Amino acid sequence: MLGRLNHVAIAVPDLAAAAATYRDVLGARVSPPQALPEHGVTVVFIDLGNSKVELLEPLGEKSPIASFLQKNPAGGMHHLCYEVSDILAARDHLVAAGARVLGDGEPKIGAHGKPVLFLHPKDFCGTLVELEEV
Ligand code: CO
Repeated sequence: MLGRLNHVAIAVPDLAAAAATYRDVLGARVSPPQALPEHGVTVVFIDLGNSKVELLEPLGEKSPIASFLQKNPAGGMHHLCYEVSDILAARDHLVAAGARVLGDGEPKIGAHGKPVLFLHPKDFCGTLVELEEV
């Protein structure tokens, strides 16, 4: 079921500063910022060839990463995103196996225009997992 690692996401308090660190200190290719109001975040992507890093900054009042940043004010690793070929089949398999899907359980369109779902961190070794259909 599980495909490639699509990206590692890092929540940051200051997206411009984090993007500058990756671009200027690490010499990475950083995308322009993209606001995703329906997800409550602004993102940039760093393309590493074999995978990506996603930097996330809160957007709006009810951002899902606000409480994470309260606990981790300097930022930190927020989730891993794995690719699946059929997100509804993956969801049904996971639910049948006892895993918890966050939200209403229906895929939303993510930052790459593809359907995504999030899985409860307590069911996956303390790590929030995003599935993206590719
Ligand atoms: Co993500």
